[in-house]
Amino acid sequence: MSKTSANSMWGGRFSAGPDAIMEAINASIEFDKRLAPQDIAGSRAHAAMLAVCGIISEADAKAIDAGLVQVQDEITRGDFAFSTALEDIHMNVEARLREIIGAPAGRLHTARSRNDQVALDFRLWVREQCDAAIAGLEALMRAFLGQAEAGADWVMPGFTHLQTAQPVTWGHHMLAYVEMFARDKSRFEDARRRMNECPLGAAALAGTSFPIDRHATAAVLGFDRPTANSLDSVSDRDFALEFLSSSAICATHLSRFAEELVIWSSAQFRFVRMSDRFSTGSSIMPQKRNPDAAELLRAKLGRILGATVALFTVIKGLPLTYSKDMQEDKEQVFDAADTLMLGLAAMEGMVRDLTTNREALEAAASAGFSTATDLADWLVRELDLPFREAHHVTGALVKLAEDKGCDLPDLSLAEMQKTHGQITEAVYSVLGVQNSVASRTSYGGTAPENVRARVAHWKEVLG
Ligand code: ARG
Repeated sequence: MSKTSANSMWGGRFSAGPDAIMEAINASIEFDKRLAPQDIAGSRAHAAMLAVCGIISEADAKAIDAGLVQVQDEITRGDFAFSTALEDIHMNVEARLREIIGAPAGRLHTARSRNDQVALDFRLWVREQCDAAIAGLEALMRAFLGQAEAGADWVMPGFTHLQTAQPVTWGHHMLAYVEMFARDKSRFEDARRRMNECPLGAAALAGTSFPIDRHATAAVLGFDRPTANSLDSVSDRDFALEFLSSSAICATHLSRFAEELVIWSSAQFRFVRMSDRFSTGSSIMPQKRNPDAAELLRAKLGRILGATVALFTVIKGLPLTYSKDMQEDKEQVFDAADTLMLGLAAMEGMVRDLTTNREALEAAASAGFSTATDLADWLVRELDLPFREAHHVTGALVKLAEDKGCDLPDLSLAEMQKTHGQITEAVYSVLGVQNSVASRTSYGGTAPENVRARVAHWKEVLG
């Protein structure tokens, strides 16, 4: 049992301090100290507005501002003693401000509550993370574009069910990820746009009777406008849920390419080689090059998805408005954001450094009768067979090649004609993997000319 004195911030009606266990479960300073810059920026905007609106004196506002600048300096220098007894970042900053400037510090909290304060701080923080995710995604898209441009016409197997399906180009495969990451980027942009309303001035939950100017603080803090409903302002965390959801989708995309890297870099595939900078060795097996970074990236999705589910669970079913449950929002979002930024940077590095084994790609593309569909299409186009019949004829030719242990282009014309009499020499023009990919010029198809056009498009978009 702790015999500490009551909290100086709100302890007017308390005669004893909290139990040590109470303090441990209640305090958020260990993690919300990360919000110090946002908290101080919000307080500076608030104090300046209070003075302009005649709610506090110019002299007090000046003292508050100078004091807050000093607090920020101390925190930046690592000279600040964070106190668990003061619960959270808001009270830690204010208590230090009082030590520095004395009585005027007590006027800062006029027309404000920790409820709108934390809603503001957290929104500012998440907004910054959206910007960081957008920048990280742009860098990653550039790395994939570099790969796509270099290998616009390199042939590789395209897979369905991880079985060789049809030949595709390396560039096309890389561009598939550029499309995914572009959508991820747009999700962060959308989320940012929606969250860019300022909750400051909602006060505890009902607004305030002081003649504050919420439009002024919103503008100074870079928001498009103030939030329109004070209850909503202090009680919703949908901006954080949107950030987490967008992060989870993005991390899902990252994990899929990470998995491909793990498969492709194996001795059985040898499609790619990861650079030394992004591989590790084994302490016992000297031949090993392990794709640890890719594996970890694949796994880290779990943390981000976990954080997303955790915050949904916290917010679900909460009555309006603020409940202390909501303090549990921060650690989840902090961890997810850190994980995402690290993942984006690691993937960018891996993709930039990746060396591709063109020969292995092309050899794999030719295996497994990957141009069977081209043969069927040719029978439809040139001999006017119904597709179902063409499919049947092709199946027979695949079986023949399989029995002979050769590939489709290795069958002689006579052998082919035994299966269907009208097949001509021209059929060989569609059987090679190069011919196959070059023919797929439909919009969004894998042809090298499409890949080059799409690379040019994305380069222009990214500037
Ligand atoms: N540390 C709190 C949080 O993170 C700040 C808001 C506290 N408000 C309150 N009424 N106790 O949510």
